[in-house]
Amino acid sequence: MKTPPAHSKILILDFGAQYTQVIARRIRELQVYSEVVRFDLPAAEVSKLRPNGIILSGGPASVYDKSAPHPDPEIFSLGIPVLGICYGMQLMAHHLGGQVEFSPRREYGAATLHVLDGSKLFEGLGAQLDIWNSHGDKLTKLPDGFHAAARTENSPFAAIENTERNLFAVQFHPEVAHTPRGREILQNFAYHICHCAMDWTMGSFIDEACERIRRQVGDEKVVLGLSGGVDSSVTAALLHEAIGDQLTCIFVNNGLLRAREEERVQRVFGENFHIRLKYVDASERFLSALNGVTDPEQKRKIIGNEFIRVFEDAIVDLAQIDHRSPITNHQFRFLAQGTLYPDVIESVSIGGNPASLIKTHHNVGGLPEKMHFELVEPVRQLFKDEVRQVGLQLGLPKEIVYRQPFPGPGLAVRILGEVTPERLSILREADTIVQSEMEASDWYYRVWQSFAILLPVRSVGVMGDQRTYENTIVLRIVDSQDGMTADWVRVPYELLAKISSRISNEVKGVNRVCYDISSKPPSTIEWE
Ligand code: XMP
Repeated sequence: MKTPPAHSKILILDFGAQYTQVIARRIRELQVYSEVVRFDLPAAEVSKLRPNGIILSGGPASVYDKSAPHPDPEIFSLGIPVLGICYGMQLMAHHLGGQVEFSPRREYGAATLHVLDGSKLFEGLGAQLDIWNSHGDKLTKLPDGFHAAARTENSPFAAIENTERNLFAVQFHPEVAHTPRGREILQNFAYHICHCAMDWTMGSFIDEACERIRRQVGDEKVVLGLSGGVDSSVTAALLHEAIGDQLTCIFVNNGLLRAREEERVQRVFGENFHIRLKYVDASERFLSALNGVTDPEQKRKIIGNEFIRVFEDAIVDLAQIDHRSPITNHQFRFLAQGTLYPDVIESVSIGGNPASLIKTHHNVGGLPEKMHFELVEPVRQLFKDEVRQVGLQLGLPKEIVYRQPFPGPGLAVRILGEVTPERLSILREADTIVQSEMEASDWYYRVWQSFAILLPVRSVGVMGDQRTYENTIVLRIVDSQDGMTADWVRVPYELLAKISSRISNEVKGVNRVCYDISSKPPSTIEWE
């Protein structure tokens, strides 16, 4: 079988910067593949990966800290172009004989960069640029063979280079939006200095991913837990493209889904895509396990454990059905998962910088190791926006590709207190109204999440001449980049008014609607 062609590639050594993943995304936006690796990857290993260029990310440390992360200094002698950003610049200077001065005060914020001469890094960008700084230590003496390529009011060495050795460094952050022409700086580095081709496209990714999948699974069978979310949906579509009926998806209705979700998933995947889909209605099982439970952690645990059992049973059922058929091998050897790149980057936490800590509690199916599956994770190289593009190219509808995240434990974590069929039905109705009004007003795709929560609180109201004593719905609409931090969205009052009046008029059992104006931190996005 054909081996996939080698891509142009830029390696990013991660020194714990808040922006490491942003750098990786910026490079991929240039249609150049980028990969984040640990800061201390030995030069020999770097060389084996055959990158066209290396970027040293920023980071919160000072080169003089005892525990400061340092790269293998041999990386500067591999003949591969290197771009140091912020802390990466200080490291480059420090290792090559320059002088870095410790500074307890950070230079933070906007500045003007004066480009000094015909540096390749700033080609075509003019003599002055707006840039964004966020650094402590400062370079005070250049290493041998380097010259300044740009300065700011505060620093004669805001950008430096050694063109003979193809080493470049900038004190500021070209990857952030506050450096408006930063993209062009990275573009100059990728195209003109590293000579990368624009060969990272989602079309070529799909072809290569399909080949990789076929090579990995041969003629064996693969099972996938389909949740209806973007990641598992795109993974299913990609696997189906690669191996057709060797893939079986299991969709579990845990009784905690949004209204008509089971219909939607079966329509898209079963009817449109003709994916072999096993639908398991386990709602009663989940709801009886949750009976009387109010503690949020316990709810999550029960739902997680129940899911594993239902999934195991479904596999046994499928194996029995297949066993009766003479053509198919009845065992599933592989389990597919929609793991994404941000979940697998081995992030480093340096100087207690929480931005670089890996997020663990989501997106992990939690299927036990004893199930002895080999994993197939065809989108583990991709960022979310890339997964969406792949989904669109494979023909998934926009309603799936751009849908908002939905937690695994479903509506159970949006019903505070006990989860009962009656309370589920109230929340489902309210949720449907939120979703339809968000879509109608064009806000649905502009926010990270918009949903309703049902509180275990009743309050007094009035309807006609009647006094009511009914439930409270909270509306939560948040914006976020990755779910780690979030802010409530300032949607128009008219939209809030419409949602509120529809919920209190149409949902029986609700007489009050509140809007959640908490950001994360200190609150979380979900209420449980
Ligand atoms: P929190 O509530 O922790 O949520 O601020 C951050 C993001 O993660 C989603 N979320 C989950 N996703 N399984 C998931 O797949 C879960 O158990 C889970 N809990 C929260 C949440 O909707 C938000 O987007």
